[in-house]
Amino acid sequence: MTITRHFVLAGALALVLLPAAGRAQGSLTVYCSVQEEWCRPMAQTFERTTGIRVAMTRKSSGETMTQIRAEATNPRGDVWWGGTGDPHMQAAEENLTLEYRSPRMTELHDWATRQAEQARFRTIGIYAGALGYSYNAPELARRRIAAPRCWADLVRPDFRGEIQVADPNTSGTAYTLLATLLQVMGEEPAFTYLRALHRNVNQYTRSGAAPARAAATGETLVGITFLHDAVTQKVAGAPLEIVAPCEGTGYEIGSMSIIRGARNLDNARRFYDWALSPEAQALGGQAQSFQLPSNRAAPIPPQAPRFEDIRLIDYDFARWGSAEERTRVLTRWEREVRASGR
Ligand code: F6P
Repeated sequence: MTITRHFVLAGALALVLLPAAGRAQGSLTVYCSVQEEWCRPMAQTFERTTGIRVAMTRKSSGETMTQIRAEATNPRGDVWWGGTGDPHMQAAEENLTLEYRSPRMTELHDWATRQAEQARFRTIGIYAGALGYSYNAPELARRRIAAPRCWADLVRPDFRGEIQVADPNTSGTAYTLLATLLQVMGEEPAFTYLRALHRNVNQYTRSGAAPARAAATGETLVGITFLHDAVTQKVAGAPLEIVAPCEGTGYEIGSMSIIRGARNLDNARRFYDWALSPEAQALGGQAQSFQLPSNRAAPIPPQAPRFEDIRLIDYDFARWGSAEERTRVLTRWEREVRASGR
């Protein structure tokens, strides 16, 4: 009798003391649109601290939006974490994501909450980063090419076949480039520029950060990416010079949304709140991802490119994230740029 009671008591105690990860807390499916190196610790740390099993897959921003749209009648994902804000805004407008007001919203920078307000609280900013490019400095010197400083330099004939950038249909980075140039130059001059740039592009990659890796190894001379993706390569020892273009440049508000029809809605909200915390956002820097975090108390990685040092445009996120504009610009790019000869 006593033995049994002790046994039951010990069992109950073990249950209390058992680490969260040992308890059955259900599961969560996260679609991740940052670099794999940051997706992984996010999933593992959340799983360890809550006991919720996380299935995480990585895809680029535009690709993820297309997937969520294709799955709309039978949603498989719960949270979409990361990726540029424009497709998150479009998903919100297309009713693919859910309104949620996290109690942590008050801890965020204005740019992050403005993003939420503009999307009727169906998305929120988790980090920010500016667009630009990087070049392989020793290769450039070897070929005696003058160092580029501006967007205008990238259409010079000496960069023929030397520039890599992602495909704006799959990549949020590349869509940010289109929207940025349209805002910096005006639409017609921007399309003239994009056709000239097309002649210099050696490859449109699927993922936005890939051109920085290619520039790091010398596979391409110049890679157009977010500056922080070039910093990751440079910190790892790549001989890259990083350029914030002289005409001014755009930036992203990396975002997070809960998918409409999420099967694990409570866990999705729990992840969402946690992902806005300073502790969770500190994982970015630890994973060599150098964006600016949206929580005011989160540590800013010392290597992160600072907005104060960059000539930034007043990017109109509502306009360029609208379904109408995104579709229109991507269709025009496909028709007038990709289809044009080299
Ligand atoms: O590598 C990280 C990152 O640049 C994020 O800052 C950004 O939101 C995301 O990748 C965009 O990726 P893609 O261009 O592949 O959609």
